[in-house]
Amino acid sequence: MEIIHISAECYPVAKVGGLADVVGVLSNYQYKRGHSVKVVIPCYETEFIQKNEFETVFWSQVQLGQFHFPFSVLKGINNDLGFDLYLIAIPELFDRADIYGYKDDIERFLAFQKAFLDWLATRKELPEVINCHDHHTSLIPFMMTYGRQYEKLKEIPTLLIVHNALYQGQFGFDKLNYFPDYDLYKTHILEWGGCINSLAVGLKCARAITTVSPNYLNEINDSGNGLEILFNQVRYKSKGILNGIDNETWNPENDSKIEFNYSIKNHHIGKQKNKEKLCDLFDLDPNKPLFSFVGRLFEEKGIDLLCEFLKKTTKENARKINILILGSGNKEIEDQLSKLLTEFKGNYNVYIGFNEDLAHLIYAGSDFLLIPSRMESCGLNQMYAYRYGAIPVVRSTGGLKDTVVDISEDGCGICFDQATVTDIEIAIGRAVILYKDQEKVNSIIKSGMMLDYSWENAYQEYLKMYNLIIK
Ligand code: GLC
Repeated sequence: MEIIHISAECYPVAKVGGLADVVGVLSNYQYKRGHSVKVVIPCYETEFIQKNEFETVFWSQVQLGQFHFPFSVLKGINNDLGFDLYLIAIPELFDRADIYGYKDDIERFLAFQKAFLDWLATRKELPEVINCHDHHTSLIPFMMTYGRQYEKLKEIPTLLIVHNALYQGQFGFDKLNYFPDYDLYKTHILEWGGCINSLAVGLKCARAITTVSPNYLNEINDSGNGLEILFNQVRYKSKGILNGIDNETWNPENDSKIEFNYSIKNHHIGKQKNKEKLCDLFDLDPNKPLFSFVGRLFEEKGIDLLCEFLKKTTKENARKINILILGSGNKEIEDQLSKLLTEFKGNYNVYIGFNEDLAHLIYAGSDFLLIPSRMESCGLNQMYAYRYGAIPVVRSTGGLKDTVVDISEDGCGICFDQATVTDIEIAIGRAVILYKDQEKVNSIIKSGMMLDYSWENAYQEYLKMYNLIIK
């Protein structure tokens, strides 16, 4: 089957968060199973793109209202990604280092989607399915169905994966002229909440929808950031499919990103060495339990609550543990985290930035992984944590609820219900008590390391979805 994934991110080409991991691994998995898989993303100025070679396979210009942007389609040569990588190069809009966060993000991703369709419409053979990811690519099903110049693409089935319904790509009707020529009677489809809402349009027009965990699908039917009514209306074509992780890249036994490899048999020694290294690097105390946070520094991830926890908890409590944070995002949160450095020197540290190698070392060297998310559609970090023998301490929400069972119920994690400082404090307190019983810790780590979150199950589920919409 020919599958095209169209996305804003794809690991290892361009990554901000879990979206990239999922696009990269799912595509690779499908490719390995014999499908013809293409991943199409914008051509940013990322390190991967600068270091690798591409050939131009198509060029033209894309129109947004009165603007015309020259673009080309580049195909990766000799890459060993395990799928075919295509980049849409629109220099004026994407020759930038960051993936998001620009004033013209709406124009950027609209042009990207249109350029993709312009190119696709020139192809003789059409793919069997187009898999869109999040709001950056969710106008495609509308444009394909109603855009006059894309008539030829009308029948291609589309699946939209919702990774994060918090971001919806809203904009005003003053930009309506950016759309390709279409039957104006269909304009109501673009509207949600008084503006054009890209994600809502995708929900309405895609043939099928998936969310990245079953529980997240249930949750957004109740609180879907303004889209709950719509999520209910399209429930008949929706399914929650739990993400997997790449067990080859994330394997402590042969991970080249960590110095001390280990398996389930000798995890105790391996983890201890990695912890010592980590503590050495970040001036932490290896004799205390190490709690880490890895991820985007935004309120949805509950990272501000960790700052509050450090500020509010007693000095005595704070001194019992180490906290290490890796991530970047909201500047205010970054500043707050940096300010705490002087006060908690010796048992707290933060690395502001994106660092995939360090992330691996953190999973390998940490005792606990903190995930205090306010919302988490799936979350991959808890799965990486299990695999590297770090015990996840999570707020039970979204996919975290599907994957982390509390140790009081024979699970391998510590769970709390509310995204509050009090709940975090109690959960950390429970972890500190658990840490004193190393025998129990070891048996929990072992059970966690044995859990299987490979892509096989999700792969099968996606295949079923594709077959359903192809029919
Ligand atoms: C987004 C979500 C995260 C999910 C990831 C991959 O980053 O916030 O929960 O795991 O997408 O689907």
